[in-house]
Amino acid sequence: MTVITCIEDLRELYRRRVPRMFYDYTDSGSWTEQTYRDNVDAFSQIKLRQRVLVNMEDRNLSKTMVGQQVSMPVALAPVGLTGMQHADGEIKAALAAEKFGVPYCLSTMSICSIEDVAAHTSAPFWFQLYVMRDRAYIERLIERAKLANCSALVLTVDLQILGQRHKDIKNGLSTPPKPTLRNILNITTKPRWAMGMLGTRRRSFGNVVGHVDTVAGMGSLARWTADQFDPTLSWDDVAWIKERWGGKLILKGIIDPDDARRAVQSGADAIVVSNHGGRQLDGAPASLTALPYIVAAVGGEIEIWMDGGIRSGQDVFKAIALGASATLIGRAYIYGLGAMGEAGVTRSLQLIRNELDLTMAFCGLRDINDLTPEVLWPA
Ligand code: GLV
Repeated sequence: MTVITCIEDLRELYRRRVPRMFYDYTDSGSWTEQTYRDNVDAFSQIKLRQRVLVNMEDRNLSKTMVGQQVSMPVALAPVGLTGMQHADGEIKAALAAEKFGVPYCLSTMSICSIEDVAAHTSAPFWFQLYVMRDRAYIERLIERAKLANCSALVLTVDLQILGQRHKDIKNGLSTPPKPTLRNILNITTKPRWAMGMLGTRRRSFGNVVGHVDTVAGMGSLARWTADQFDPTLSWDDVAWIKERWGGKLILKGIIDPDDARRAVQSGADAIVVSNHGGRQLDGAPASLTALPYIVAAVGGEIEIWMDGGIRSGQDVFKAIALGASATLIGRAYIYGLGAMGEAGVTRSLQLIRNELDLTMAFCGLRDINDLTPEVLWPA
C-alpha cells in the first residue's frame, strides 16, 4: 500500500491506474511542452522568508472568491473529460470540493452533465463555458447552468482553437476509447478503472450528446473543437454572455496585461491568469511569471486569480504572495481523482491545505488574508 504524502505520489498512482490516453491527456502540454514545464518550474525560483518566534496558534486559511466564502483560496479548475479519469469523475470531484468547502467548476466538455452534477451535489458549483458557433445551443447551455443553480460562470477565453498536443494525436484520444487492439490491451491492465466504467452509463460528453444534433466526431475533443468552437469569439461576445448570464462572471485564460485591462472594462468579476496549463500557446510565459505584470496593470480593479503549475500548498502561498487573491488547481486534483476517486481528490486538497498552512506559519503569519509580498525573499 502506497503511503501518499504529496501530490507526486498521487500522480504516480494515477499513472498506474488509468488508461494511457487519459493519463497523457492530463499530463501534457502543447508542442515542445516548454510552457507546461515552465509553469511548474517558475514556482521553484521563488524563495520565502522564514520568520521565527512569532505566535502561530489559531491559523486561518479561509478567504472569499467572488464573494463566496472558501475554506482555502483554491478552486477545482474545469477539466475536460474528467469523467474518463474515473467513473462519474465530475460528480466525485464536486462532492469532494463541497465537503472541503472549496468551489468546483464543471467543464463544458465534461462527461457528467450539468444536471447530473446538480442532482448529486448540494453546494452550488461553477460552470465553465466554451462558446460554439451554434449560439442557440450556447443560450440553452447558459440557461441550463442557471437552472442548475450554478453560482458563477467561468468563460474560457483562450481556447477557440486547440493547441496541438502530440500525445493525444498519437493515442487517438476519444471518449469513450475506440476498441482498438492497443486500447484493449492497455485497458486490461487497468481493471479498477474498467470496472468503474462498466458500472456507469456516463461515458460521453454529457452536456453535448443529446443536446445538439448529432455530428461526426462527437467523441473526439479535437474534432469537436475544430468543427464546433467559434473562432470569431471576441470581446463583444463577452458583453452578450454577461447579459444572458446575469451572475458572477470569471474570465479564464488572461496572460497579457493589455488583455487584463480589457477584462476590467468588460465588467467581469474576476480573471484567471492562465496559459491553460501550457496546453495552448507553447512559448507563452509561465502563469506565475505573468502574474506580477497583470497585478501591476489591474491590481485592485478586479479579482485576480491564477492557475498553472500548482502542485503544492507552497505554490498556492507563492501565487498569493505575488498578488493573486486565489488559485485554481487542475492536474493536482485530477491525479488524486484518477488514483483514488473522490477520496483521492479529498487527499489532494488535504495535502495542499496542510502545506499551505505550515508554510504560512513558517513565514510568521496566522491569517492568509495578511499575506503580502513581504514574505518573499528578495530576488
Ligand atoms: C481543454 O480544455 C483542454 O485543454 O484539453
